[in-house]
Amino acid sequence: MMPATPQWWRVDPLEPFQLGPRLIPGRIWTASGCFAYGLTGHEMTAPGFASPFAGLGAVVTKTVTPAARAGNPMPRLVETPCGALNSIGLENVGLDAFIRDVMPELEKRGVPFVASIAATCPEQFGEMARALQETGGGLRHWHGLELNLSCPNVAEGGHDFGKDPHTVAACVRAAREQVTDRALLAKLTPNVGDIAALAVAASGAGVDAVSAVNTFVGLEVDLATGEPILPRRFGGYSGPAILPLALAKVDEIVRKAGVPVVGVGGIATAEDALKFFALGAVAVQVGTAQMRDPFSAATIARRLHEIYLGNKRG
Ligand SMILES: Cc1cc2nc3c(=O)[nH]c(=O)nc-3n(C[C@H](O)[C@H](O)[C@H](O)COP(=O)(O)O)c2cc1C
Repeated sequence: MMPATPQWWRVDPLEPFQLGPRLIPGRIWTASGCFAYGLTGHEMTAPGFASPFAGLGAVVTKTVTPAARAGNPMPRLVETPCGALNSIGLENVGLDAFIRDVMPELEKRGVPFVASIAATCPEQFGEMARALQETGGGLRHWHGLELNLSCPNVAEGGHDFGKDPHTVAACVRAAREQVTDRALLAKLTPNVGDIAALAVAASGAGVDAVSAVNTFVGLEVDLATGEPILPRRFGGYSGPAILPLALAKVDEIVRKAGVPVVGVGGIATAEDALKFFALGAVAVQVGTAQMRDPFSAATIARRLHEIYLGNKRG
């Protein structure tokens, strides 16, 4: 059992911290795809919370692609006893609408955000990064760019995209050439034998951190038909079941790659988040838990802040 207040926790998750060229407002973020574009829920309150955004270091926005996408056919989400299997297929508004409508609104509302993008080749990553930089360069609340190199659901040849260290390095290089004053992160797939090799490649090409991990490939069967439930057979598995799997991937990266890691996978409580920090993560992202309870990340930030204050006094 973990002690209620781990004595080693001496970091204030609400304190800004330096990530590459950028001072990020805090260490508890929401994960891409699990809190939309950070524009909804502002009016929600909970006991002690003015909104679900209280104390968040960043919202990683839903991944956008060069053109808008309608996503995969339904059903797209299957709940399992300990997690969720999704095959959203990157439904998104597209880069132009994101730049035109979403970024200015996030800026106006003061939401710290990391933009997430996906493309089908390194050149396209570079072009998207340039477009973001050109129009978003002056925004105070745009803190980072996360390259989604790992979405397992995109049918158009996306399945193996982020599994090759050379491709990962090329994508990072293309984006880094365009975006130099924001934190650049590469989000890695866990569906490989050697995730540290991907992290090493991303690091060598200039990322400030890697986000680990995206979802694990999974499948659920409908016993009435004997067929997979998801129309595309496979989905991305997330939620509490993957916590130990994500911790293992993060540990591998921390020990072998020496690049800052933003931990993500299965976090639902402050204690879950602390396990990533114990392994050396510099920040964490909350995904599936945020979809169940939009105050999850805010609650984790608050709890870790309390533990920090307690240890500081003690
Ligand atoms: C419904 C859903 C949609 C997601 N969409 C994206 C996405 O657009 N881009 C991305 O990088 N990750 C996406 N993810 C992956 C999450 O950001 C996260 O890496 C993963 O779910 C593991 O964290 P968790 O167990 O806390 O959910 C999505 C996850 C879910 C459940």
